[in-house]
Amino acid sequence: METLKRTKIKDLLAAAPGQEVIAKGWVRTKRGNKQVKFIALNDGSCAANIQIVADAANFDEELFKKITTGASLCVKGNLVESVGSGQAVEIQATEIEIYGECDPMRFPLQKKDTSMEYLRTVAHMRMRTNTFGAVLRLRSAMAYAIHKFYNEKGFVYLHTPLITESDCEGAGQMFQVTTLNLDEIPRTKKGAIDYSKDFFGKQTSLTVSGQLEGELGATALGEIYTFGPTFRAENSNTPRHLAEFWMIEPEMAFYDIKDNMDLAEEFIKYLVKYALDNCRADVQFLNDKYDNTLIERLEGVIGTEFVRLPYTQGIEILKEAIANGQQFEYPVDWGTDLQSEHERYLVEKHFGKPVILTDYPKDIKAFYMKQNEDGKTVRAMDVLFPKIGEIIGGSEREASLEKLENRINELGMSRTNLEWYIDTRRFGTVPHSGFGLGFERLLLFVTGMSNIRDVIPFPRTPKNAEF
Ligand code: 4AD
Ligand code: MG
Repeated sequence: METLKRTKIKDLLAAAPGQEVIAKGWVRTKRGNKQVKFIALNDGSCAANIQIVADAANFDEELFKKITTGASLCVKGNLVESVGSGQAVEIQATEIEIYGECDPMRFPLQKKDTSMEYLRTVAHMRMRTNTFGAVLRLRSAMAYAIHKFYNEKGFVYLHTPLITESDCEGAGQMFQVTTLNLDEIPRTKKGAIDYSKDFFGKQTSLTVSGQLEGELGATALGEIYTFGPTFRAENSNTPRHLAEFWMIEPEMAFYDIKDNMDLAEEFIKYLVKYALDNCRADVQFLNDKYDNTLIERLEGVIGTEFVRLPYTQGIEILKEAIANGQQFEYPVDWGTDLQSEHERYLVEKHFGKPVILTDYPKDIKAFYMKQNEDGKTVRAMDVLFPKIGEIIGGSEREASLEKLENRINELGMSRTNLEWYIDTRRFGTVPHSGFGLGFERLLLFVTGMSNIRDVIPFPRTPKNAEF
């Protein structure tokens, strides 16, 4: 078998019949009768299986007993036109080697229960299902498209640190990083934890965002983006929150909020179009299996102009809706953050398309956002999406040293960890803007999955860090 090279199933399915081939993969199903067996083989290269046809007369009866769902095979044979419906070609097997058997009694995917909840408990194996194959191929393609988009625009890919001493968003949701012995914590004379004894000589955490370092990059290189994991110890057990998620954060010198919104809109449309153009089979599979409005929704986003609306007007629309009988669980008041039910009302019911909400009250947004003349709002922009709610959060940044320092003092923030950041405003400050796209939120939209735990291979959520 060894002189002939293995061909991936994706390529076999598109190849011309009439040649000898080798396929390798895992058995999805086996059926047949005494004379002939049909094996559906999948190797992860695409959603579809290739059908292996084996005449019982040519093989040892014992071999077929070992070919069960999940077993791994190397199959040599002739690629022939398929007589059955459903596939153009199949392999008429001449040799079958079993790489690894798979005990049907113990194989976790043999179970009748194929619910998403069950599959999360066997996340080490769920990548072998059609659904997770499709989702993870899409995830990989989207990561590639993100780099392609920014590379084509001449942005610099900046690697910002994962271990940091600053809480960018100021929400206090950081995971501490320490090598101190927790059974014997060193103390200062005053009884405080003595971080000078810790690995970095100070208190450190996992980053919630690469933005602050990203701003250092943008005010030197012009236009940068980061793309990496971020960590938040927020105790929100929702279908849209992870404790470890990936974020793309572009940061651009000389961009105002309008330029920022234009980039965000172009970026998302590019990614959605990329998925439709390059991952059609996987998108179609997810559309057909889970949500037959998925493709329609994706095409809808590409073909529409996002609404751009100040927060204050958003509140007015919501209040009007309440006056007309719309019910919400949470109250709507100027000055409070919108709940996802409010965001979704605006996007799904009122406008029927993505909405970029701008100019939020300063007290519900981070310290670095550009302050508006009214003294009450900041130049924030959240992009709100159907079924997801917030997919992007960003803003124009406060470029004035004086205003930034005033805000930092007003909020009572510690400046010891922040002087390096404030230097951007001290030395050649420029107007600049940026935003963060939650990678898994994007994937929720593109795959149509309804729980964020199902668009990342190994989700980290409160009380769950398995695998
Ligand atoms: O709105 P956020 O908190 O903004 C920032 O972190 C800014 N520093 C970004 C920037 O301006 N450079 O987060 C940005 C996005 C959200 O819109 C959401 O899509 C996603 O990150 N996100 C989460 N995704 C999954 N799980 C969580 N716990 C998330 N928190 C935020
Ligand atoms: Mg946000």
